[in-house]
Amino acid sequence: MLKEIAEQPKAVADTLLGRLDPALGTLTLGPELGLDPAVLRDAEKVVVIACGTAHHAGLVARLAVERWAKLPCEVELASEFRYRDPIVGPRTLVVAVSQSGETADTLMAVRHAREQGATVLAVCNTNGSTIPRESDAVLYTHAGPEVAVASTKAFLTQLVACLLLALHLGEVRGGPGDELRAAARALGRAPEDVASVLATMEPVRELARGLAHQETVLFLGRHAGYPVALEGALKLKELAYFHAEGFAAGELKHGPIALVEPGLPVIVVVPSPVASGVLHGKIVSNIQEIRARGAHTIVLAEEGDEAVVPYADHLIRVPAVPPLLQPLVAAVPLQVFACELATARGNDVDQPRNLAKSVTVE
Ligand code: F6R
Repeated sequence: MLKEIAEQPKAVADTLLGRLDPALGTLTLGPELGLDPAVLRDAEKVVVIACGTAHHAGLVARLAVERWAKLPCEVELASEFRYRDPIVGPRTLVVAVSQSGETADTLMAVRHAREQGATVLAVCNTNGSTIPRESDAVLYTHAGPEVAVASTKAFLTQLVACLLLALHLGEVRGGPGDELRAAARALGRAPEDVASVLATMEPVRELARGLAHQETVLFLGRHAGYPVALEGALKLKELAYFHAEGFAAGELKHGPIALVEPGLPVIVVVPSPVASGVLHGKIVSNIQEIRARGAHTIVLAEEGDEAVVPYADHLIRVPAVPPLLQPLVAAVPLQVFACELATARGNDVDQPRNLAKSVTVE
């Protein structure tokens, strides 16, 4: 797993290769997708279906599709999709995200969507696997083989693919040109940003070892930080067999704050103070609230964000990037944290108990 975490700058670079011109901030994705541009132009909505970590990438995709393509976007757990009556039809673009391409829940959801007449685009890491074969189009992630059960480099490349797709949809549908180009240029810098995070992980490892005796860790985030909080909690459940939960920080007062007691570690993913508008101040208030109740606050914030410093028992810094790209840098310390903490507890991080790499039964 550590090897795969370390491979992430290359996995991200390989997934961008030939699809984006970082100098111009333009995309070259259309011919590769091979979809009739009218399908993208005339789509009424996007529905992302996926499981587990891939579902978290889908939650980021939703924000990007809504922002850049101005298209309604829903994100569904694939295992729930065909058991309700999802409203999909010929003008729905369904995006099925799957590392393995063999996840039974996602495959069944793909089949159901196609039966309703939707166009299905697979985002997949495994060439020639069943989900891409049964889809109308595929955007491959180039993470290389992912062997450790817990997804790391595949997740980052799913984020990249979803962001590329949202930028492409934005271009095709006449989205905000300057913002699209700035985001595309920033995405081109993602391999270096991820590498710079990986170069500063020793304090995170030390922090994780110090918390190995704990039984609960909470994660808070909002906007693009919310899927990161969910992913951080999932990694900790899978690897450390911890009770770990991710919450949208705005929900804190609606229940989860009752869990906070002295000494409870809470990891807070903080949005950019510059780019996130009022959200930054709101999350700083959340940190103050939980700290006043004795929580041990571990704050993940971008370089230069000084407002969080007085309320952070531990600070994890990530590079400043556009808000929708933050998951690419913010997820990495949480992967390292979970891996180190689980190792300190004596767990086998490559083969966690009860889990399989590819879940081919419903
Ligand atoms: C988490 C993890 C799982 C998978 C999920 C979907 O680390 O690996 O949650 O993300 O089982 O698998 P794929 O992407 O192969 O469909």
